[in-house]
Amino acid sequence: MTSTDAPADLSRLLEPLDLGAVKARNRVFLAPLTRMRAEQPGDLVGDLHVEYYRQRATAGLVISEGTQISEEAKGYADTPGVHTREQAAAWRRVTDAVHDEGSVVAAQLWHTGLVDHESLHGGRPPVSASAVQVRTRTSLKDEQGRIVRADVPVPRALETSEIPRLVDDYRRATATALEAGFDLVEIHAAHGYLLHQFLSAVTNHRTDAYGGSLENRQRVVLEVVDALVAEAGRGRVGIRVSPTGKFNGLEDAAGAEEGLDLAARLAERDLAYLHLSEPDWAGGPALDDQWRERLRAAYPGTLVGAGSYDAAKAVRLIDAGLIDAAAFGRTFIANPDLPTRLATGAPLNPQRPETFYGGGAEGYTDYPTLG
Ligand code: PHB
Repeated sequence: MTSTDAPADLSRLLEPLDLGAVKARNRVFLAPLTRMRAEQPGDLVGDLHVEYYRQRATAGLVISEGTQISEEAKGYADTPGVHTREQAAAWRRVTDAVHDEGSVVAAQLWHTGLVDHESLHGGRPPVSASAVQVRTRTSLKDEQGRIVRADVPVPRALETSEIPRLVDDYRRATATALEAGFDLVEIHAAHGYLLHQFLSAVTNHRTDAYGGSLENRQRVVLEVVDALVAEAGRGRVGIRVSPTGKFNGLEDAAGAEEGLDLAARLAERDLAYLHLSEPDWAGGPALDDQWRERLRAAYPGTLVGAGSYDAAKAVRLIDAGLIDAAAFGRTFIANPDLPTRLATGAPLNPQRPETFYGGGAEGYTDYPTLG
């Protein structure tokens, strides 16, 4: 990459972008963020969520928090679902709010796989590609609603005969999301959750058509992609991947190469975008531009980068043609008007990490905007 001494033009972040079937009004996206504030019973979004997402509809694309596609898919306390009528009706108020503010919104479709706890499923173990124990933890709540971290148990390997049902769970959740007014869906295939557990040979020891070769390990992800594009239409499905890094204990030395191969497979589909979660946010080693150039060659479509970005990094990579937009997580939690702040170089509000997970309005809807 060439570097110059001229300051980057940060206002480029406010340029619109074609995003499959929709248009993003700028290149600063709200990253999917677990906040553990769903209402019970029913894993429902409520008034607080409507306000939180409305405030952040300044984003070019609002991506919802990870939203479970089925009862089985839930792996954390008080995360919302997108698989019941009530959940669809509750989400409708959020999508209406985002549309009222002039933006577009994607539902992030989540199955946590082994990052889960039997206490969330009446004592039944979590499911995964294989019965491989991974050293990671999930977050539950105690009787007082305080977050407690819990080691994850050994999962049960999904039977081959269950895979069509799993793919159909993603398809039905997509239909429910569209009914709820979401413009797009984003498949969560990153961060050591179920689809990543199928992709990686670290967690996939299967001997059927869904394990072994790289092609077999990619099979379930590509079946999900194809089913969702058929359900939602061209340009309405995005996918999030994180081939490198070690979040949730899934560290795969083959990830950098295999991630490029998956990107090439995805480029053959009519997706809205490919969303890359870079390892920096969880303390992993930064990607280099050589790899980014190979990713761009493998995936000529819309690329979204994320992971501890700041405005300068986003603009540098957009100018270099290596990404098209950037998603922001923690900085967007603390700054509902983040696109303007980044584009003008305005100062950012301090973050309050102790209120990231669980609780109510504090640390959720009470961050101030400029002026
Ligand atoms: C989290 O709750 O910490 C979390 C959830 C989903 C992710 C990453 C982190 O993709």
